Amino acid sequence: MSKKRILIFASGCGSNAEAIHEATVNGTVNGTVVGVICDHADAQVLGRAARWGVPATVLELKSFENKDAFNEAILKAAESYKPDLICLAGYMRICGENLIHAFPNKILNIHPALLPSFRGLHAQRQAVEAGVKVAGCTVHFVGTGLDDGPIITQVAVPVYDDDTEETLSDRILQQEHPAYVRAVTAFCADQLKIEGHHVSGMHGRK
Ligand code: GRF
Repeated sequence: MSKKRILIFASGCGSNAEAIHEATVNGTVNGTVVGVICDHADAQVLGRAARWGVPATVLELKSFENKDAFNEAILKAAESYKPDLICLAGYMRICGENLIHAFPNKILNIHPALLPSFRGLHAQRQAVEAGVKVAGCTVHFVGTGLDDGPIITQVAVPVYDDDTEETLSDRILQQEHPAYVRAVTAFCADQLKIEGHHVSGMHGRK
């Protein structure tokens, strides 16, 4: 099976991007990271891409007339990489509908909560403030709504009485990396099947 072309979108640290790239290098994922698109010129993920020898495209909203022009530039840049899969990995923007329609069921995202709970920003803070005893992360296909696409996999982590947003975020982040790698591995092995809002291919009975 030919290797899938993986394009990463990231805004900051890029630890999820690092985990995905490492999994392509060590052969876990049948894919190659062909590029990184980043919306912040000073993001740490750009240093990672340089170390990997992977090209990066920086597009900052402030450089564009308006959101539509920015989204159009994002789409053109994404298309230039000819990806089979787009992984939003710590990407802090809502994708334009133009991108979602151009890559149907080919955009994945990792969210640091057990969707549909705690959509949007500061999900870990929402969980601490809600007093939940179980939190976690979700890898899902990206739809046009906010964090509402079909769920691929989820991992639960405990919430302790003395947890803060930071301590819980760290615990969740440790599970994000393997969860995202498992989901990308399944996608690149053509194991994921979507029927309506349901995804199969990763959680069958052993
Ligand atoms: C992670 O918590 C991720 O869930 C969220 O952004 C945070 C940083 O991710 N989307 P990364 O280290 O940039 O991959």
